[in-house]
Amino acid sequence: MSGVPGESLIELLNVSKSYGPTQVLRGITLKVHEGDFIAIRGKSGAGKTTLLKIMGLLEKPDSGEVWIFGRNANKVGDDEMSKIRVHYIGFIFQFFNLIPSLTVLENLELPLVLAGVNRRERRKRALELLEHFGLKSLADKFPAMLSGGERQRVAIMRALINNPRVILADEPTSSLDDENSELLMKLLEKINEERNVAIVLTTTDLYEELPTKRDYMLREGCLIERQRK
Ligand SMILES: Nc1ncnc2c1ncn2[C@@H]1O[C@H](COP(=O)(O)OP(=O)(O)OP(=O)(O)O)[C@@H](O)[C@H]1O
Ligand SMILES: [Mg+2]
Repeated sequence: MSGVPGESLIELLNVSKSYGPTQVLRGITLKVHEGDFIAIRGKSGAGKTTLLKIMGLLEKPDSGEVWIFGRNANKVGDDEMSKIRVHYIGFIFQFFNLIPSLTVLENLELPLVLAGVNRRERRKRALELLEHFGLKSLADKFPAMLSGGERQRVAIMRALINNPRVILADEPTSSLDDENSELLMKLLEKINEERNVAIVLTTTDLYEELPTKRDYMLREGCLIERQRK
């Protein structure tokens, strides 16, 4: 099936996007395979968030094709798109990841509510996940009681709770100090290795060493693959 659209988890073919007169993406082609671990680097305003939103079906491109789990996104209705998002994709947004009025446990349960999982099962899965990653002591805390690093780790747990095939993480380390950034990258690496979840992350850090398997630079709307040392 080599070269057939839809054989990858997510595939962008010649995707372009403008906001008014600003052309943000110019003919981007990118394939995310099972178990991939991809970094997209770029300066502020380069279009990283726009690109992740298109990959996660939260935004439509002006032209080009998006294939997701073997389906052409242009031919998928809104209901089905929501289903694909809920069941296959975990998002870690750049801002506002956790709901302040809910505890950590309740925040983790939220995607399962959307997926129609019953309360008992939700609680069990959320607790198991926290326990597995050594974060159980945070279960009953509210987001305001957590450090920035803890908050981002919980956001990752929440992206993971549905057993997604792909996690899209938008600048997951941007608000963290070096030590917490490293912890978070280790956590993502562990998730990628242990669970074979494909991860695409973005960063404004153009030089930081990352545990990713592929590394791209987004510049002037184009994606350039960087050679690994
Ligand atoms: N909804 C929108 N409406 C109009 N312009 C937008 C919209 N979203 C993004 N843009 C513009 O598109 C460009 C790319 O934005 P984007 O948020 O994708 O960049 P980014 O690489 O994520 O930046 P940052 O590192 O600061 O988060 C910017 O010039 C931005 O102003
Ligand atoms: Mg952004």
